[in-house]
Amino acid sequence: MLLHGGDYNPDQWLDHPDILADDIKLMKLAHTNTFSVGIFAWSTLEPEEGSYQFEWLDDIFENIHRIGGNVILATPSGARPAWMSQKYPEVLRVNGSRVKQLHGGRHNHCFTSNVYREKTQQMNRLLAERYGNHPALLMWHVSNEYGGECHCDLCQEAFRTWLKDKYNHDLKALNDAWWGPFWSHTFSDWSQVESPSAIGENAVHGLNLDWRRFVTDQTIDFYENEAVPLRELTPDIPITTNFMADTFDLIPFQSLDYSKFAKHVDVISWDAYPAWHNDWESNSDLAMKVGFIDDLYRSLKQQPFLLMESTPSQVNWHEVNKAKRPGMHLLSSMQMIAHGSDSVMYFQWRKSRGSSEKFHGAVVDHDNSSNNRVFKEVAQVGETLEKISAVVGTNRPADVAILYDWESNWALNDAQGYGLKTKNYPQTLQQHYRSFWENDIPVDVITKEHDFSDYKLLIVPMLYLMSEDTIGRLKAYVADGGRLVMTYISGIVNEYDLTYLGGWHKDLQEMFGMQPVETDTFYPNDRNYVTYQNKQYELKDYATVLELNKATTEGTYGEDFYADTPAVTSHQFGKGKTYYIGGRLEAQFHTDFYGELIKELLLTPEVSVKHKKGVSVQTRQDNDSKYAFVMNFTEKAQPVVFETTVKDMITGEEISGEVTLEKYEVKIVQEQK
Ligand code: GLA
Ligand code: ZN
Repeated sequence: MLLHGGDYNPDQWLDHPDILADDIKLMKLAHTNTFSVGIFAWSTLEPEEGSYQFEWLDDIFENIHRIGGNVILATPSGARPAWMSQKYPEVLRVNGSRVKQLHGGRHNHCFTSNVYREKTQQMNRLLAERYGNHPALLMWHVSNEYGGECHCDLCQEAFRTWLKDKYNHDLKALNDAWWGPFWSHTFSDWSQVESPSAIGENAVHGLNLDWRRFVTDQTIDFYENEAVPLRELTPDIPITTNFMADTFDLIPFQSLDYSKFAKHVDVISWDAYPAWHNDWESNSDLAMKVGFIDDLYRSLKQQPFLLMESTPSQVNWHEVNKAKRPGMHLLSSMQMIAHGSDSVMYFQWRKSRGSSEKFHGAVVDHDNSSNNRVFKEVAQVGETLEKISAVVGTNRPADVAILYDWESNWALNDAQGYGLKTKNYPQTLQQHYRSFWENDIPVDVITKEHDFSDYKLLIVPMLYLMSEDTIGRLKAYVADGGRLVMTYISGIVNEYDLTYLGGWHKDLQEMFGMQPVETDTFYPNDRNYVTYQNKQYELKDYATVLELNKATTEGTYGEDFYADTPAVTSHQFGKGKTYYIGGRLEAQFHTDFYGELIKELLLTPEVSVKHKKGVSVQTRQDNDSKYAFVMNFTEKAQPVVFETTVKDMITGEEISGEVTLEKYEVKIVQEQK
C-alpha cells in the first residue's frame, strides 16, 4: 500500500484519553494508515534517568494495530530530556565560536559525546526489545532531520583523528593539501589543528572542505551507533532517517553529503515544505524545483523513496505562512508520488496545543473536527492513494542524467572568487533540469559515483571540483558513445580544493577539443548575449573565454573584448560527443539547446500527452504498465490531449483525445505496455 499518515505525538496528549480515542476514529476517517511515533518522546519514555515508561506507547501500538495501521517507530535522539543535559553537560553542543549551548530547543547534541552515544543506544535497544516483534512495526525512523555541527573538545579530537586517518599520519601531506605556507598556515603539530571558526581559522579552503566531510562522516557515525541495536534485534525492519531540503530556495539540503548518507539507510525519506502560492515564482516553477530534489533523492538509491513529512496546509516558519489553496494539497501530494514517493506523510497528525508549533498545519486542527476543509482534502488524498496502489515499488527509468555533487558545491561556495552571490550551483542545475521537466522527459539526478554508462545524455553543469578519477570516468563515458554537456566553472580544482596547474586538465582538453582560459564575472546589471543558431540569448553572471583546438563553434559571444569568439562548442570524441556552454544563459537557450538534443537522441515522454506550459506529466512504470500523473500547476483550466488510450485510475474510465484539467487538477492514468 502507499503509506498515508504522519508524525503522531500522543506523548503530548497522555492526560487527554478522550483525544487519544478520537485520534483513532479520525485516522480511519482521514484514510490514513501509517504513523511515525515517538520522535520527540524521550522525556516521556524516560522521565528520570533509568526510570522508564513504555505503557503509553504499548497502548498506542495496540490502538494503531487494531485499525490495521503501521507504526514507523522513531528513536528519540532529536531532543533530550533536561535531566540529561544537566547531569552530563558534554552532550550539549558547542558552536563555531566555541560557546557551549544551553539546554533547549532540539537537534543540538554533540555527535561525538560518548555519554550521548551510550544513552541513545541504550534507549534504542529498549525500544527494539519491546517493539521489535510487534506486528504493527513497519520501519525505524532514526532520530529526526540530522543536521548542524559541534565544535567541542571531543569533536576537535575526533576531527584530528579523522585527519590523521585521511593523511596517513603525515602532517606534511596535510600541509601540502591545505596549501600551508599561504599566510604562514603550516602546522607543526596535529594539536594545532582546529575546526573552522568565525573567530579563528576560516580561510584555509582545504580545511573547510575536510571539516564538512568530517561533519557528514561523524553524523553518519552517530547514526550508525544508534542503529546497532536495531540491526541486531530487528534485522528485517528497514531503517530510514528523514532528509531535508534547504527550504527558502527549495534546493537540496546543503550541509550534509547525502550521497554518503544514502549508503547507510535502507530507504530514503525526506521532508518537503515548498512555499506554494508565494509571490516570487509560479507554482509550476516551484514544482520543477520539487521535482529536481525528488529525482535526486530517488536516484541516490535508484528506488522509490518516502515523503516523510509535508504539511496538509500551511507551515509556521516561512516568513508568510500561506494556506494551500483548495486542490493544491492533492496536486502537490500526487507530484511526490509521480516522482517516486511511496508515501504521503505529514508533520503532524494533530496540531499541538502549546509551544512553538501550535499553528503549524496538521491533519487534525484545534477544532478536533473531520469537517473542515483541510481534513477533507487530506481524506481525499487518502482515498486517491488507495486507488493508485498499483504504483507502489514502481520505478522511473531515465535516459538523461544531471550530475549533482555536494562536495563541489561546498568548495565552490567557499571559493573567494567569481561572484560571491551568484554562484548558485544547485539553482543552476535546476535550470538545466527544467527543459526536461517541461518536456515530460524523466531525469535521474545522480552523484559522481553513479555508473554513467546507462545514460544517453549526461549533463554536468558547474562541476567546480573534479577529481582525476571523475575526469577519467567522464572520459570513458564519452569515449564509449555518451553525450556530455559541461559548462563554465567546471574542472577547476581537484578533491583537495587545489587548482589544476598548466591549463585545463589535458583529458578535459582532449574531450572538449578546447580549453576555457578566462572566466569573466559580471555585476548584477551587466549583460552580454550569445548568438546560437541565428538567435540571440541573454547572458548574465559568467562568461568564459575559450581557446579552441579541434572543437566546433556552436555559438558566439555578442559583446565585450571576447565579442565574436566561441561561447558554445561541440566536439566529437571517441564514439561520443561533448558540448561546452561558456556562460550563464537564459532559460530559452536551454529550451532550444536541449530541444535539439532531445530530438537527436529520440528522447520522448513515456506517455504522450500534449499540453501547454505549467502542466507537467511525470511517469512511473513496471513491467506491464506506465502510470502517468498529468498535473495542472497553473491557475486556470487547461486543455490536454491524450495521444493514446489510457485508463483513469480514479474513475476507471478510458480516456483519449482532449480533456480539460481544472485549475490544480491532477489526472492519474494507466497505460498498458
Ligand atoms: C521539520 C521537523 C518537524 C517539524 C516540521 C515543521 O521537518 O522534522 O519536527 O518541526 O519541520 O515544518
Ligand atoms: Zn562535540
